[in-house]
Amino acid sequence: MKADAKDGTPLLRVADVVVDYRRGRTTFRALKGVSMTIGAGECVGLVGESGSGKSTLGKAVLGLAQVTSGSIHFDGRDITNLKGAARRRLAADLQVVFQDPYGSLDPAMTVGQILAEPLTAAGTGRAEARATVAEMLDHVRLPADAVNRCPGEFSGGQRQRIAIARALVRRPRLIICDEPVSALDLTTQAAVIDLFIDIQRETGVSYLFVSHDLNVVRRICHRVSVMYRGECVETGPNEKVTRDPDHPYTRQLLLASPVADPARQAERRRHRLELRAPAGTPVS
Ligand SMILES: Nc1ncnc2c1ncn2[C@@H]1O[C@H](COP(=O)(O)OP(=O)(O)OP(=O)(O)O)[C@@H](O)[C@H]1O
Ligand SMILES: [Mg+2]
Repeated sequence: MKADAKDGTPLLRVADVVVDYRRGRTTFRALKGVSMTIGAGECVGLVGESGSGKSTLGKAVLGLAQVTSGSIHFDGRDITNLKGAARRRLAADLQVVFQDPYGSLDPAMTVGQILAEPLTAAGTGRAEARATVAEMLDHVRLPADAVNRCPGEFSGGQRQRIAIARALVRRPRLIICDEPVSALDLTTQAAVIDLFIDIQRETGVSYLFVSHDLNVVRRICHRVSVMYRGECVETGPNEKVTRDPDHPYTRQLLLASPVADPARQAERRRHRLELRAPAGTPVS
């Protein structure tokens, strides 16, 4: 984990955030008072089962989900429910990579256009934009001639590299990564995770790394927060949370994640059944 800013202010501070979604006449509380911090150059993982609120937390930070109460500070500044031009200006510092590189890249644009667009929209000159695009393609290990091709000509893994390059072009300080490797096969997944790690080393960018897969967060994150039904039930260093967690739900999650060794798998299956036994634990 890298140090925070000199005065101790974390890059991102989420404090007691509540998010309610309207469902017809009722409301559904997707986040029930979640707190977390991310330091400069740090990768914090967010794990938990489907529906636990991981994406909602990412959306709240990005301004895509309305925060009911609580606060979100970026670099010491209150960005809770920031709207309009102020929110758009934040895009220079705060970016996102989603799971689906098909949906998030315009198939009719060339990669060069896709990567240059956020720069030219922010007033960067054409020549400088071209140079930055070339630099970013190099960052994500794609060939320079990719600029003339469209997303459909690339594999899923390459498309995710394009999405990462687009997130990087404005040199942000934090990227919200929402299941960015979940749609990829295991080999491609490993290569893209290595790329995220390299980019962090090269640029010092921070990540909020959302994944339902403990094996993924174990590889990349410095610290891990575990979500369960809209609450953060455990936060700690990667090694601790992904190998020796305190909370029964995290233990269940750990035992449910696949391992290669059949003997260890049988052992873990036994533990999992034992863990299910006590009544009253929040493990379903
Ligand atoms: N726009 C919305 N309107 C109403 N309910 C929503 C909305 N978006 C999400 N929810 C609900 O909020 C809860 C949390 O959803 P969220 O997408 O944050 O979960 P998640 O942990 O990211 O799950 P997954 O692993 O499946 O992506 C879920 O019960 C979901 O159905
Ligand atoms: Mg999600």
